[in-house]
Amino acid sequence: MQNKGYPEEFINRVRDASNLVDIAKGYLPLKQKGQDFWACCPFHSEKTPSFAISAPKQFYYCYGCHTSGNVFSLVMKMENLSWREAVEFLAKKANIELPQTTNNSDWLRQRQKKEKIYQALLLARDYYCRTLQRPANRPAVEYLHQRGIDDELIKLFHIGYSDSWQGVVDDLKSHGISEQLMQEAGIVAKNEHGRVWDAQFERITFAIHDVYGNCIGFTGRTMKKDDKLAKYKNTAETIVFNKSNIVYGVDVMKEKTRGQSMAGLIVVEGNVDEIAMVKHGFPNTVACMGTALTKFHAGVMARFSRVVYLCLDGDDAGQHATLKSIDVLQDAGLTVKVVVLPAGQDPDEFLQTHGADAMQKMLASSIGGMEFKLDYLRRHSDLTNRVGKAEYLNQAVGLLATMASSAERELYLPDVANAVGVAVEAIRNTLNSQLDKAVRPANKKDATIYSGNHIHDNHNKPKSTIPKKILDAEMAITKAVLYDREYARALPKAELPSLHNPIYQKIVTEDLKLKDIYDILDEKELATIEPLLGERTGQAAQAEVREWEDCVNLLKIEKLKQTLSDCKGDIVATNKLMKQIKALENLKHQQKVED
Ligand code: UTP
Ligand code: MN
Repeated sequence: MQNKGYPEEFINRVRDASNLVDIAKGYLPLKQKGQDFWACCPFHSEKTPSFAISAPKQFYYCYGCHTSGNVFSLVMKMENLSWREAVEFLAKKANIELPQTTNNSDWLRQRQKKEKIYQALLLARDYYCRTLQRPANRPAVEYLHQRGIDDELIKLFHIGYSDSWQGVVDDLKSHGISEQLMQEAGIVAKNEHGRVWDAQFERITFAIHDVYGNCIGFTGRTMKKDDKLAKYKNTAETIVFNKSNIVYGVDVMKEKTRGQSMAGLIVVEGNVDEIAMVKHGFPNTVACMGTALTKFHAGVMARFSRVVYLCLDGDDAGQHATLKSIDVLQDAGLTVKVVVLPAGQDPDEFLQTHGADAMQKMLASSIGGMEFKLDYLRRHSDLTNRVGKAEYLNQAVGLLATMASSAERELYLPDVANAVGVAVEAIRNTLNSQLDKAVRPANKKDATIYSGNHIHDNHNKPKSTIPKKILDAEMAITKAVLYDREYARALPKAELPSLHNPIYQKIVTEDLKLKDIYDILDEKELATIEPLLGERTGQAAQAEVREWEDCVNLLKIEKLKQTLSDCKGDIVATNKLMKQIKALENLKHQQKVED
């Protein structure tokens, strides 16, 4: 098979050679009970073991945090590796040689290029750090000191300085790095005469690292108070530096929290905020560098904690970014808490003026995502007139309707009622009629993420009651599309309901093939679809085709049933749909008789 991933045979071989129990033993003290092995869960903090490994199924599941997976996902998490790297890691452990296909060597070449870039960036980082310490650059050190960043923090965060156009170029050249590579690493830019110059010239450099500890670039602050100059300048996009997934300070956070259980990960906006948080005893902090969070950020964060405290700047931009980030984090299955700082303050300023205890209090009194959204809506509504009030009500009820728990909705009703001065009962009625109207097809909002056979509740979504045979059918269909099965090419997509797993849905709608997914899906998504990978080989057996038809029919029936519930009362439409459903059901029956 032509694919960028490894051949299925190889993945199977690695899986067979890697006993989950043995691998897990390397990380956790396991206690055997029957065929299962138990430990305290490495993915959430607990005192009594709820992390279970089934030896026969080669599968783990935590009854506390519902994390589940197989040997590949365990290694991904414990070693902080991508799916692909986890396969390689285990292959190496089992002395299985990596297969060499042409596509594979493309990937290897790309990887070697990345390694060279990391190496160049590391040299640049160290050059800047040395440069900062030159006597002539004392003003830069003093600037940092005056901002509360002492020598220890300068070292910890690899802060440096660029004092010339050429210094970094000469230094890297003396280590055999070509100008071409410096450019590919974003360290230098080229002028119109073809000369390269340091992209961070006359800036204090804050080195940025990825979750594996590689230096991937810099953000450089000017010390000049010149409005024409950007306050911060980031490394240009490179194959290792992509602003949508950079989590500043992740290296320090990882190092400082190693072996500790984390009550939550705090997210601040700026790099100076990050440093101030660490300084004041909040090592469980990272910074998003002034951008709204993406699902890639969420993926990195989810590696460390299921709870995220958004502690962005107390200005309009910060509050707006908070609003946008809540859904992104929740969609990744994270619990979001929001810290609302006093107007106009960022965490750095807050800590300087109020200190660590006050910050601790702010964290303790953080509010939930829904509370923040309702609050934000109220602050941005004009409640002085009826039109404004009606608009607010409409939107507030819309927000409440997205909550799964009626008890939880009740909690917020009085706030909404008070804001506009109407009775709680009236709001409850409006809300209920809106909830009745909302048919609940398996649309994206209601999707429940699941992997393997275990269903995970997605934040405040209802506990899933999706029958296992439907989930299995969705899985089979996705798998056939992914493996480009002949029979799956004529999939009647329009007749199928949305699949419950959004990633499966993406694969089916976009017709993604195995060769594409490594470029399109991020590591976390790859982990979710891991149960689909590396099993089917060779020609499709007759039984497989029949099984496939059953799966498609089952889902077609589901879709018809959803339509059926939409046209209650319309007898003609109902009858027609019932007939269609019957016909599909019979189809399956006939097949069975043929067998
Ligand atoms: P802020 O403007 O809040 O800066 O931008 P800050 O963190 O308080 O900076 P200091 O305290 O004045 O040094 C928040 C983040 O947005 C990004 C940076 O990552 C910054 O930390 N940013 C800001 C830029 O990328 N470019 C800019 O020109 C400004
Ligand atoms: Mn600041």
